[in-house]
Order: sequence, then C-alpha cells, then structure tokens
Amino acid sequence: GVSSFQRVTPSKLKSMNGRKGKPAWSSWQGKVYNITPYLDFHPGGRDELMKGAGRDGTNLFMEVHPWVNWENMLGACLVGVLVPEDYAKS
Ligand code: HEM
Repeated sequence: GVSSFQRVTPSKLKSMNGRKGKPAWSSWQGKVYNITPYLDFHPGGRDELMKGAGRDGTNLFMEVHPWVNWENMLGACLVGVLVPEDYAKS
C-alpha cells in the first residue's frame, strides 16, 4: 500500500535479486517494482524476466517490447522510487 512506499538505493535494489529467498525487484524509469509475482506469468518466461532482477530493467525491456505498458501491468507491484546511494536515511 501507499504507506509502505519506499526510497530504494542502488545497493538495496542490487540485493533484491530474487536469489536466496529474496524477492526480485527491477527498476523502470526511476521507479522500483517487485517483479516476483509476475515471474510465473511473464509471456517471455521466467529466465528472461529475471535478467532484469536486482537492476534497472529499462533497457532490456525496451529492446524486447517497447510497446508493452509496464506501469499499467505492474502498477500494483510498485515498491518505491530509486534514490542516490547516500540519500539521508530516515
Ligand atoms: C514477452 C523479455 C520484462 C511483459 C517477452 C518476450 C521476451 C521478454 C523475450 C518474448 C517475446 C516473444 O515471444 O516474441 C523480457 C525481458 C524483460 C521483460 C528481458 C526485463 C528484464 C517484462 C515486464 C513486463 C513484460 C516487466 C510487464 C510489465 C511482457 C509481455 C510479453 C512479453 C506482455 C508478450 C509481448 C507480446 O508478445 O506482444 N518478454 N521481458 N516483460 N513480456 Fe517481457
């Protein structure tokens, strides 16, 4: 929900790589999404979607299917926004 909207640093994003029981997050145009719930539904398969895990998935996504609307499809999986590494912790 809105109350858990997070500020995500690049190192945090990197740690959310879908391995060792962690969720897989990926960023799209500065916003961070939990792609885990979509892994089993991705028409291109799990492995393809996992290429974007723990990192910015924008370029990969745009190379394959720029016509797909990421925001509409994964809006409910929005985690928060990317912030600089040294962003003040609160
Ligand atoms: C299909 C890769 C992220 C939605 C595909 C296909 C590949 C692929 C290889 C198969 C294309 C084909 O069979 O012709 C990737 C990669 C991603 C990524 C590398 C990021 C790392 C996403 C995300 C979404 C998404 C985040 C949803 C927000 C879809 C859809 C299709 C598809 C809807 C079917 C598209 C169509 O055939 O028109 N993807 N995908 N993908 N993917 Fe992704």
